[in-house]
Amino acid sequence: MENTEPAGAPAAEILAAHYFAGILGMSMLRRWYEDAEFNEARLAELAALLANRHEFPHSLALSPLEHELLDGYARWSASYDGHNPLIEAEEPHVHDLLTPHLGADVRALDGACGTGRHAAWLAAQGCTVDGVDQSEAMLAVAREKVPGAAFHEANLTALPFDDATFDVAVCALALCHLADPTNGIVELGRVLRPGGTLVITDPHTSSALLGGQAFFGGIVDGEPMRWVRNHYHSAATWLRAFRTAGLEVTDCREPEFTDAQTAASPSALFYPDALKAAAGDLPGLWVWALTKRA
Ligand SMILES: C[S@@+](CC[C@H](N)C(=O)[O-])C[C@H]1O[C@@H](n2cnc3c(N)ncnc32)[C@H](O)[C@@H]1O
Repeated sequence: MENTEPAGAPAAEILAAHYFAGILGMSMLRRWYEDAEFNEARLAELAALLANRHEFPHSLALSPLEHELLDGYARWSASYDGHNPLIEAEEPHVHDLLTPHLGADVRALDGACGTGRHAAWLAAQGCTVDGVDQSEAMLAVAREKVPGAAFHEANLTALPFDDATFDVAVCALALCHLADPTNGIVELGRVLRPGGTLVITDPHTSSALLGGQAFFGGIVDGEPMRWVRNHYHSAATWLRAFRTAGLEVTDCREPEFTDAQTAASPSALFYPDALKAAAGDLPGLWVWALTKRA
């Protein structure tokens, strides 16, 4: 194929074509050895994509802009509580795992609480709730939403509580922002009483295969997509951190990507068969239930 780009010139923009081609490639990789018809259909889509790469939708400039954690969440805080299929997939597991341990005499921590999603639910279950987050902008939303809880601006790796303060704790979708989750998990374990319960959720390692990140904002009105970096932790990393923190695993769930999650991908509109094959059967979340050793 003739190359019309200047030699050595960097790609000016990150285009939808780059992402779509990745989804097509991944779909074939996952099934190449068993379905020639499927492969041919995807190759035809790829050929059409390359032939029309300068036309919509392939030409759409996504140009995702990375934000450092505090800046990213300051921008995201006002819209964070909108529709989010990842959160909708996660919540039932957290509620299911925590419910047996809740009640009026329970002191609960929402670690990296963000806008107080789990703090609100824990308070509604009658618990006395503390929430901690590094982002003052996210905490401002949480304070408004859950006036009965106490919120603290602090790092997960240095929690402002004495040892064994809490009966239960949750840390949802936040340890992905730490390159190594160990210090955060050790702190969560430290402030949990012996026999107490901790539930941790995080985007699954599989998300990395699909190019997942903590994306926010839209590509409307000339605004770029925006994102905060996720680090994907392997099972070995999680288990090593739990051992270091004196936590025992009582449950581990790896729910698959839901239809609502895959429907949120731009490729759902243009390459639905490829997306289905690329994401099919892959876990979308880590959900860990843990207890502090006595
Ligand atoms: C995706 S949001 C999740 C918020 C909330 N837990 C939920 O599930 O809706 C991630 C949150 O983690 C917070 N965070 C990330 N790293 C943190 C750290 N080291 N200490 C405290 N908060 C942190 C961010 O400020 C952000 O509010």
